[in-house]
Amino acid sequence: MDRAHLDLKPSGPLRGALRVPGDKSVTHRGLMLLALAEGEGRLLYPLKAGDTLSTARVLGALGAEIAEEGPHFRVRGQGLRLKEPGDVLDCGNAGTLMRLILGILAGQEGLFAVLTGDHSLRRRPMGRVVEPLRAMGAQVDGREGGKRAPLAVRGASLRGIRYTLPVPSAQVKSALLLAGLFAEGVTEVEEPVPTRDHTERLFRHFGLPLGVEGNRIRTRRADPFPARDLVVPGDFSSAAFFLVAALITPGSEVVVEGVGLNPTRTGLLQVLASMGADLEWRVLEGEAGEPVGYIRARYSPLKGVSVDPALIPLMVDEVPILAAAAAWAEGETFIPNLSELRVKESDRVAAIAHNLRALGVEVEEGPDWLRIRGGGVRPGEVEPFHDHRIAMAFAVAGLPVGVRVWEPGWAEISYPGFFRDLLGLCGGS
Ligand code: S3P
Repeated sequence: MDRAHLDLKPSGPLRGALRVPGDKSVTHRGLMLLALAEGEGRLLYPLKAGDTLSTARVLGALGAEIAEEGPHFRVRGQGLRLKEPGDVLDCGNAGTLMRLILGILAGQEGLFAVLTGDHSLRRRPMGRVVEPLRAMGAQVDGREGGKRAPLAVRGASLRGIRYTLPVPSAQVKSALLLAGLFAEGVTEVEEPVPTRDHTERLFRHFGLPLGVEGNRIRTRRADPFPARDLVVPGDFSSAAFFLVAALITPGSEVVVEGVGLNPTRTGLLQVLASMGADLEWRVLEGEAGEPVGYIRARYSPLKGVSVDPALIPLMVDEVPILAAAAAWAEGETFIPNLSELRVKESDRVAAIAHNLRALGVEVEEGPDWLRIRGGGVRPGEVEPFHDHRIAMAFAVAGLPVGVRVWEPGWAEISYPGFFRDLLGLCGGS
């Protein structure tokens, strides 16, 4: 059978303003918390894409009533007690869904559920959530002793623990905080380096127990809480593709409006600025505790940099698009601290190296680092490796010279309409 592909012609300048779809992390969490709330609430401007539709389906199987209302979702929650699902819960490609829902299900006493996912999700590490949840009293089993999905969980009576995250992971932190809502005593998560804090902000939005002291985050058993409408900001990770497309294409100027500017997500802006990018951004409002504003990017000759390892957790999903920028920069870019990228939707270190080479870029790949020799790319074919961000990042990397993108449909995991929006800025070429 012929594989699907998309041929992008060499692009002229990108010009114009756009809004990107809702934030994926906030949409997953918003749906989950509304499913646990009492009564009805709306999630306004959520992301409706492969991953978050998986979350809506799984929560539906657990008793929440989720209806589409134009661009929004209307959710009638089940309260803190979910319904036992009649079948296996399919998390599709969504790691955030599998890890966070495990925290919730662990505390649903007596409820039995089985979680599975696609080929990529079944190879991703789940021990990092299963182990601390077991320490709280959770009954979870699965392949390789619970390290990989499918996972079976029987809700149990939980007790709070103090836990220091061994790897920086907002998903693990969030799974434990969600489990803490059902646990006796205090649950405390210490994070050695900050990771995205959407869960904490949403706990505040819904009036759930939360204490933050430096890098320690605490919660305890929740009382029933009422639903509240929630506005989802545009996804910074989606905006990043257009910013870099503008930076590397002569004559471009692009503005992304209504985008989330949470500082635990925007490490990429600092790195691009240090590479000489002409970027301007401003926070204009706050939605559900999230700063929201605009970002303007103008074509800029970039230069290679050595990236501060401490910034990686604040841009963990933007490394593929940073690599695209590095390919167009003058000189070498060194990106360290990438071990977590090996266990994302694909092995992103390998996927980045493969696609840079496919575009004629010299790259050296270490166990947890990449060294990229910039200077521009030549036309070629890029391979998503079943990974939405790899598909979008390397479509952008090749855009100025023309590129064939295999299986472009992977973009729909987080951004349906990505190629339409990209071509729209190029004047429809
Ligand atoms: C996410 C956290 C990150 C990120 C993922 C979404 C979240 O994963 O890569 O796309 O919503 O909490 P880790 O927690 O594994 O770093």
